[in-house]
Order: sequence, then C-alpha cells, then structure tokens
Amino acid sequence: MDPLVQPIQPAGNAALARISKLLALIYNYIRRLVRSKKAKPVAMASSTPAPTAAPTIAPASTSTPPAAPVKARIIDEQTARLKYWVEEPPINDHPSAEALIKYFRPDIKDRDAMIRVLKDIRLKAWQIKYYPCVGQWLFFKFGMTEHSTYPEIVDRLKQGQRILDMGCFMGFDGRKLVADGAPSSGITNMDLEDRWFPLSFDLFRDENTFEGEFFGGCDITDEDLFGEDSIHRGRYDMIYIGYFIHLFPPSQQPKILNNLVQMLKPKTGSMIFGNTSGTAKPSGYLMKADFAAPTKNERGEWVRPDFLFHSTKTIVDLMATSVKGDGEWDFVGEQSAINLDLSPTKAYAEHFKDVELVNMNFCMRRM
Ligand SMILES: C[S@@+](CC[C@H](N)C(=O)[O-])C[C@H]1O[C@@H](n2cnc3c(N)ncnc32)[C@H](O)[C@@H]1O
Repeated sequence: MDPLVQPIQPAGNAALARISKLLALIYNYIRRLVRSKKAKPVAMASSTPAPTAAPTIAPASTSTPPAAPVKARIIDEQTARLKYWVEEPPINDHPSAEALIKYFRPDIKDRDAMIRVLKDIRLKAWQIKYYPCVGQWLFFKFGMTEHSTYPEIVDRLKQGQRILDMGCFMGFDGRKLVADGAPSSGITNMDLEDRWFPLSFDLFRDENTFEGEFFGGCDITDEDLFGEDSIHRGRYDMIYIGYFIHLFPPSQQPKILNNLVQMLKPKTGSMIFGNTSGTAKPSGYLMKADFAAPTKNERGEWVRPDFLFHSTKTIVDLMATSVKGDGEWDFVGEQSAINLDLSPTKAYAEHFKDVELVNMNFCMRRM
C-alpha cells in the first residue's frame, strides 16, 4: 500500500488526518517546485498581485506563479468585468448556497455580514483569475447535486469510498457533500491553482475539521500526476469534473478524460461525472472563447483554441473515445435548459446568443 494512501483510510481519526494533511502540504510544495522548473506558459489572465493568504495547511500557496507571457494573457480585467462581473452574490437564487455558508459559519450573524464576507473572498479569487464562474458566482450552483446520482455519491462516501474533485476551485462541492452527511475524510480536492485553498479556509473556517485532502499545483495534462509512479494512479472510486472539460481544446479532451481514467480504481462501478457548458444543437457548437487557455499552433503562434459546446451526442462520443478498447462502460449525457434572458450581464447573453446554450451533465461508469 502506498504510504501516502494508507494513513488517511480510517475515517474520523484526527491524528492520522493531520499526518495526511502534512504529507499533502509537502506534496503541494514539491509539485510547485517541479511546476515552476517546467515553467509552461499558463493562462494567467490577471496581472494583479495575489491576495495575502491566511495561514492554512497549504502555505506554499502564497507565492505567485511565474508570470505568463503577454501573448498568453487572454482577457483584460475591464473586458472580463463587462461580460462576467455580477456585483451582488445571488443568494436569493441559491438558497442551498446560503444554507451551506450558515452551516460552516454560524458566527456570521446576518445576511449583510454574509454578503460582505462572500464579496471579499470572491474579489480575491477574481484577482487570481478572471473566470466567468467566479465573476458570476456560478460556483454557488453545486454542479454535483445536479446529477441524479448525487444520493448514491453521498452513500458511497459513507461506505468509505473516495472521491476526487478535479478542478475543485475553492471546494464548494466537497463542502456541500460534508453538509449532506458525507465524511470529509473520503474527499480529495485537487486543482492546478493552489491559491484557491487559503481563500476557501477563510470562508469555511474548517481547516481543523476537514479531514480530506487538498492537492494544489496539479495539472491534469501532466503525466507525472497519473503515470505509473503517481500516488493518484488507480486510487479513486469516483472523480467529479465540474465545468472543467471545456477548458481544454476539443482535440485534447479524449486524452484529458483518459488521464482521469488512470486515476480511477480499475473496478466495476468506478465513475467519472461532471458538468459542462453545452448546446441544444445536435452536433455541438464550436466558437473561439476568450476564457479558454491559449495554445500554440503548429507555427508556434499563440491562438485561442476552439471552445466546444457539447451536445448529448458529442459528449457521449467523447467519453466513448476516451476509453476505447478498455472494457465495458456506460455513458450518460443529459442536457437541461438555460434561459439567456435571465443572464446576469447583457454582454454575456450577447456572447452566447448563437450557441443555444444548455447545461450538460455527463457520467461514465465502468461496468
Ligand atoms: C471553471 S472552474 C470550475 C470550478 C468548479 N469545479 C465548479 O464546478 O464550480 C475550473 C477549475 O479548473 C482548474 N484548472 C484549470 N486548468 C486545470 C488543469 N490543467 N489541471 C487541473 N485543474 C485545472 C481551475 O483552476 C479552476 O479551479
């Protein structure tokens, strides 16, 4: 058994959980060192300094990653704000988000105080990256709960299984699982960006009670993360990818999903599930999106990749392609409507007017 895996298995054991957190901290630090040596250009949209982070289990988070080349900056703050910035947290539209904050922060006495806390944390996250989901508070949606399998996921965690939330951002979905009764010890949060984590502890104040893991500096395109020698290889019963797969060019997506499959336990019932922005058009819809990370073309020029809005057909095709020749799988793609008339900003509605935007939930399960 891998030494990193073993200590965290017994749920509820605080001492072992602390050891696990310490190992995760060392792991985060080493990954950051390796990543800065590789110094791949990344889509750092922000030129704003990182916010000062409170002490957390991931102190390596406070350093600023290498600045991206100017060509790799994809959107300036003014443009991003115009399209994606919604000032007030939409807590009226998301009662479960308000309930979650109350669950973790009984010390926040009233709504005004909660709004102040939320705005402060959200601004710090925006200063790290101008993600649409940050500007528009989309992380309030708890995409995991939109899946019909959500009760099964909570049950499986209660039985001692482990979930990986890849591209977890501040770990809202993991906290929602905890509030819904799942033991935190079975939850692994992972992200390329480790500066989200101190912010999440500022918000949820659970650094001494959350017994799961936070791994930062983890790039799903990096072979070291899921390869033969990785501690994550074959480790997870379930992997959640909320609003994640669309960050990658369509041609890379089968490989990204297959990289995730390498981190799943090779057994019946193992599954990857998630959400992405989709389209009601049967064959999908391609556009250049300013929030997709730029990639180099064959001439070495920085270009914006095509952003694929998946249809139920293209998402199922993608999942099937990613595991072709690797046993029996069940694939599900389900769309639900989005009303652009309710878009938080006019510029956002304009940007997506031709897409026939829907929300796409998908799941692939090993049979
Ligand atoms: C759009 S957010 C989705 C956040 C969250 N899962 C949700 O559903 O609200 C995408 C997340 O993926 C992370 N990310 C982007 N590229 C990544 C990569 N190559 N490897 C791992 N995480 C990545 C970002 O830092 C960000 O937290």
